[in-house]
Amino acid sequence: MKVKAVPMTKHKQLESWAQEVAALCQPDRVAWCDGSEHEYQSMLHLMVQAGTAQWLDPEKRPNSVFVRSDPADVARVEEFTFICSKSKDDAGPTNHWRDPSEKKKTLTGYFSGCMKGRTLYVIPYSMGPVGSPIAKIGVELTDSPYVVANMHIMARVGARVLDALGTDGEFVRGLHSVGAPLAPNQADSPWPCNAATKCVCHFPETREIWSYGSGYGGNALLGKKCHALRIASVQAHDEGWFAEHMLILGLTNPEGRKIYIAAAFPSACGKTNLAMMTPTLPNWKIETVGDDIAWMKFGSDGRLYAINPEAGFFGVAPGTSMKSNPNAMRTAASNSIFTNCALTPENDVWWEQMSDVPPAELMDWLRRPWTPRDGRKAAHPNARFTVPARQCPVISPDWENPNGVPISAILFGGRRAGVVPLVNEAMSWQHGTFLGSIMSSETTAAAAGAVGALRYDPFAMLPFCGYHMGDYFAHWLAMGAKAEAAKLPRIFYVNWFRKGADGKFLWPGYGENSRVLKWVFERVTGKGEAVETPIGRLPAKDALDLSGLRVPDAALAELLRVDVEGWTAELKGMRAHFGKFGSHLPKGLKDELDALEKRLQAAAVEAGR
Ligand code: GTP
Ligand code: SPV
Ligand code: MN
Repeated sequence: MKVKAVPMTKHKQLESWAQEVAALCQPDRVAWCDGSEHEYQSMLHLMVQAGTAQWLDPEKRPNSVFVRSDPADVARVEEFTFICSKSKDDAGPTNHWRDPSEKKKTLTGYFSGCMKGRTLYVIPYSMGPVGSPIAKIGVELTDSPYVVANMHIMARVGARVLDALGTDGEFVRGLHSVGAPLAPNQADSPWPCNAATKCVCHFPETREIWSYGSGYGGNALLGKKCHALRIASVQAHDEGWFAEHMLILGLTNPEGRKIYIAAAFPSACGKTNLAMMTPTLPNWKIETVGDDIAWMKFGSDGRLYAINPEAGFFGVAPGTSMKSNPNAMRTAASNSIFTNCALTPENDVWWEQMSDVPPAELMDWLRRPWTPRDGRKAAHPNARFTVPARQCPVISPDWENPNGVPISAILFGGRRAGVVPLVNEAMSWQHGTFLGSIMSSETTAAAAGAVGALRYDPFAMLPFCGYHMGDYFAHWLAMGAKAEAAKLPRIFYVNWFRKGADGKFLWPGYGENSRVLKWVFERVTGKGEAVETPIGRLPAKDALDLSGLRVPDAALAELLRVDVEGWTAELKGMRAHFGKFGSHLPKGLKDELDALEKRLQAAAVEAGR
């Protein structure tokens, strides 16, 4: 080591862990992050110097950079994400399991000398407002300035977190390297990574994360999916709370009454868009608390309270426009990092659907000249913006409330071209847990691999649950059983993505989703009318406010139809899905599946008469 910065901490365990890691990874220097604006600027400058980033036009996009990753490093890698619990059974059938001591051995091999020629940054971060009773601290050690800059936006980082950690506070240990050591005088690549050896490993028992080879998103910003979901889900199970892949929003009706809603949709299925939506229904208001992760705990009043553990949004760029999500566009107007978008000749970013008419020429995300006639996408489908949450024009005044906000309704939803109606209310907490457990969705570009493949993604947590999914289901049921039923959030299953025979979406989505939220609001506050169906409660005739909406009657009928045949055809798949959880499947869910089958059979008999 050429330079060794003096550690900024009096936390002996943190200091010795940082020293151990430095000895293993052999960086040229160690830098403790203080979280200052000056530090953020120096990371941007370093990235620009290295060719990782370039400044965007400061008139159009003040203090913002554009980054292109390596084409082999553009999304989360679920195939190489591992849960290394002592017992394989604790990881369950939905996770890739590795033996912790064997994996540590392999990783120690990967990490030894892996930071040669680079700087090791020590990033103390808080998930949740510093000092909140629901917040948790972690420390990420990384050799990527891109990670440092993104963590500055996505979490609270630096000296104030070390203060909160004190001399003996608990923290999650996250070690990250791009896995590309430099020989003396070797030129660096603009996006160093190790595409052949990517792995993202979690050790739930020791609250550790080791991530190697990728610099992108959830693989590398360890506070996000690795800590706030995979490790936190284990802590939540042990300590009696919830760590969920959910947005949180405040919804105010025209009379000024406000409720909070949390919603779990799989990756790239509409959380950011719903969280900051502009309602088309007049005088309804939405405020954003969070767009990706919710940590929820019961308060002393028996209600469920949620915080957003993050401080920024790492949002999907394609599809975002002044029409679909003006609040996201305004949030990203300055102080932002754009990754894998296209670049305009005026030195600004562009992506698919940002404007109705694409620019006449662009540089695509792979640095190739591009024109609309080329017929290929200019931005990568998983291109993202990293933006500070406080810049969101509709950020909730309570978004940093250390005690969180009380949740009145929980929505589940996925991308389903057929079968699943626009909205369906659960009949009980147990039935709602069942709906979460049988959620399925078409895969998206947020993860490497096939796009559009239908798979079960329970609670939108398939890639993020750090333990046995059957035990996770049981945790949901147990938490509900302990609570006062009347104070539990009501549960709904929504689907904005139903398609017609022509392959087009039947529902306009985005701001029009406010119509569904209005019905949810009215159900929760006791006014909304519903009809009992075999699959749950659907809006009664005229209960869904469709005033001024231009959707053909036939499309509306299809969106709100209970497809008895379609649901019946899915029972077999649900049984097979449940079968994977063996003895871990809670009886309550098996009962719900049996009851659903009976109700569908009765409905089929009724229809046949
Ligand atoms: P992650 O950040 O990956 O967890 O994703 P997310 O759930 O926040 O997804 P996001 O809101 O970024 O939406 C992803 C894609 O779905 C974007 O391309 C959106 O334009 C599109 N989308 C969002 N809401 C709707 C909707 O109501 N209808 C339709 N048809 N598309 C939508
Ligand atoms: C997701 O894939 O659900 C994301 C993006 O929110 S990433 O942080 O890359 O996981
Ligand atoms: Mn997500």
